[in-house]
Amino acid sequence: MVIKDNPAKAALTAATIFADTCRESISKRGRFAVVLSGGSTPRLFHRILAEEPFLSEVEWAGAHIFWVDERCVPEDNPGSNYGTAKRDFLDRLPLLPGQIHPMPGRLPPETGVSRYQTELMDFFCLKRGEVPIFDLISLGVGKDGHIASLFPGNTSSDGEDKLLETVTGGDPYLARLTMSYSVLNQARRIVFLATGVGKARILKAIFEDSEALLPAQKIFSSEGNLTWILDRDAASLLPAKIAPQ
Ligand code: 6PG
Repeated sequence: MVIKDNPAKAALTAATIFADTCRESISKRGRFAVVLSGGSTPRLFHRILAEEPFLSEVEWAGAHIFWVDERCVPEDNPGSNYGTAKRDFLDRLPLLPGQIHPMPGRLPPETGVSRYQTELMDFFCLKRGEVPIFDLISLGVGKDGHIASLFPGNTSSDGEDKLLETVTGGDPYLARLTMSYSVLNQARRIVFLATGVGKARILKAIFEDSEALLPAQKIFSSEGNLTWILDRDAASLLPAKIAPQ
């Protein structure tokens, strides 16, 4: 766990992990397959990636960008995770269209899931039943403990092999497409970014209430490489043994 003084420093830490993981993935495997989250918290982290030194130093030519979830709205709707990221930072990066892999939020949910499943299977050259292994997945957490669009009480993908699913819920309450637990948990590296006092209570439950059955508690990294990046406000209810300040 990394605890920073404020959201800007937490976002900078996330951007540094992004750049380091990109370099390492390209040197080992020739490309960097990274998955972004929606919501408001990662917007600062995303904007920092389009500023120096990251703009020049990240090996953008080898990066492929995916999303953990998408709201079923067109990309010019403020609720679109892809549209928001495009306006926040993607438009300023030296990326070719083939390096950006948005979930198709404009399609009916079942069609969108099937289209994105095909895109993942083609990109990773998967056979049926195989699960993609992303180099880095960046996650946020909702005040109710949800991650991506996997909400508390939504158990449909627990223990199943589905790559993606459709869900209706969240705020805004919409039909959504989301990666499943099985995809999230295969990642080589997972980074959770949570800032602000509004996240303090749910973080306490995630770390201290083992009976809470929260989606965020079902995430681990297959290579044991999971990092929580918090700011002091988000960490304010965590005991010192979990969040050394
Ligand atoms: C989304 C996200 C979602 C988000 C949390 C936290 O599409 O909304 O992927 O899981 O990470 O809701 O959102 P905030 O950062 O806005 O608190």
